[in-house]
Amino acid sequence: MREKLLCPSMMCADFGCLQKEVEVLDRAGADIFHIDIMDGRFVPNFGMGLQDVACIRTLTEKPLDAHLMIDAPGNYVGLFSGLGADIITIHPEADLHPARTLDKIRNLGKKAGIAINPGTAVETVKELLPLADYFLAMTVNPGFAGQKYLEFTNRKLETLAKLKAEYGFRLMVDGAISPQKIQELFRLGVDGFVLGTSALFGKGEDYQTILSRLKQL
Ligand code: DX5
Ligand code: ZN
Repeated sequence: MREKLLCPSMMCADFGCLQKEVEVLDRAGADIFHIDIMDGRFVPNFGMGLQDVACIRTLTEKPLDAHLMIDAPGNYVGLFSGLGADIITIHPEADLHPARTLDKIRNLGKKAGIAINPGTAVETVKELLPLADYFLAMTVNPGFAGQKYLEFTNRKLETLAKLKAEYGFRLMVDGAISPQKIQELFRLGVDGFVLGTSALFGKGEDYQTILSRLKQL
């Protein structure tokens, strides 16, 4: 059975008790902790900070994925590697030399991720696919939680699901991922799901119950 990766988007967590959130999510079966980093330029928002990465690193052994929604990410992969990120995901749209940056991530002993915005064609990053361990397809315009799923991205997901076999990356989606979308997209071939307000946080149910149910979908 193909593994389904559940990745809590920690920018949606309760920052009044971040330690407890991480520990409970870890025990509840979270697979990867998704940490959104934003610079106010590549996306018109600010996400989590360096201290958050360092703090979460001390609270769990599970992989941390630093989703760099920032300009010139190549300048900062060493920083996030040092903070303990296991996967470093960059937007080639924001990097003059994405192949060099992805190589740099791997040379640091980390997993390399490519993320593309809803309006970016897979064709534009085809040459990078051999350099990626993860491919994060944005299903909302990046930067904000609580948005609507962009249905036009489905065609891109079908293309990526086919390319997966050839290149061996794990296919992930990020943005307005509801339980219904998990069921639909897992069948399509998506491996990992960034979970925010649409499926996990603020649901009035404990994380164990929710994650166990999502795993079964
Ligand atoms: C979008 C963010 C995610 C996610 C949040 O840029 O990377 O944190 O959308 O989850 P939702 O969309 O379900 O609130
Ligand atoms: Zn993200």
